[in-house]
Amino acid sequence: MSVKLLIVFYSRYGSTAKLAESIAEGAKKVDDTEVIMRKVRETAPESVIKRDKRWYEANLNMSEKYPEPTLSDLENADSIVFGTPTRYGNMSAELKLFLDTTGPLWATGKLIGKVAAVFCTNSTAHSGKESTLLSMMIPLLHHGMIIVGIPPNIKETVTAGSYYGATYTAGSTGELPPSNEDLKVAEALGIRVAEVAKALQIGRRENNA
Ligand SMILES: Cc1cc2nc3c(=O)[nH]c(=O)nc-3n(C[C@H](O)[C@H](O)[C@H](O)COP(=O)(O)O)c2cc1C
Repeated sequence: MSVKLLIVFYSRYGSTAKLAESIAEGAKKVDDTEVIMRKVRETAPESVIKRDKRWYEANLNMSEKYPEPTLSDLENADSIVFGTPTRYGNMSAELKLFLDTTGPLWATGKLIGKVAAVFCTNSTAHSGKESTLLSMMIPLLHHGMIIVGIPPNIKETVTAGSYYGATYTAGSTGELPPSNEDLKVAEALGIRVAEVAKALQIGRRENNA
């Protein structure tokens, strides 16, 4: 039996998508893990997107590569990792809008007991990474999800990421690349989510829960 790990993210310039890819790479290292990647839809009008060449081109590429998430995707997953660029120290409106469509899953308790984790990118070193990660955890706790972070034995957390989730400083238009340490932390998050989801699946099967 495989563990389904869903990654749901928003990205305008592609930086958050890079972290999503590293998380996926990490998760795939755990046996029997199936990774599904989804990008939430743009909410800005196309005329606005077209005025920003980097945004327009990144959006074209990502829309081809990553389908939009559905509520069934969430329901069918064993674990879900959510990602966003920082917006004024908070999650993006695009991701929040998608989370705001998950009321039917909340009402029926469909996400209770699933493993969750979060990641984000932002423009400068100290301008909202951890507040963004914390803001993303609130709706996940309302859903009854089991949130995991990154433990301090991952040595790259000294200079990269956060105990709260994977992060990196991407610049205001995603012009900065992630460091090897940033990618290692993201990979470690993918591994951890997959391992915890697998352990829970085995435990529940043994207990018939
Ligand atoms: C409206 C808006 C608000 C933003 N607020 C912040 C912020 O509070 N702190 C920060 O460091 N970067 C902020 N940024 C920059 C983005 O977080 C950064 O461009 C993003 O990480 C790029 O990710 P992407 O390539 O996945 O789109 C903001 C960008 C926009 C458009």
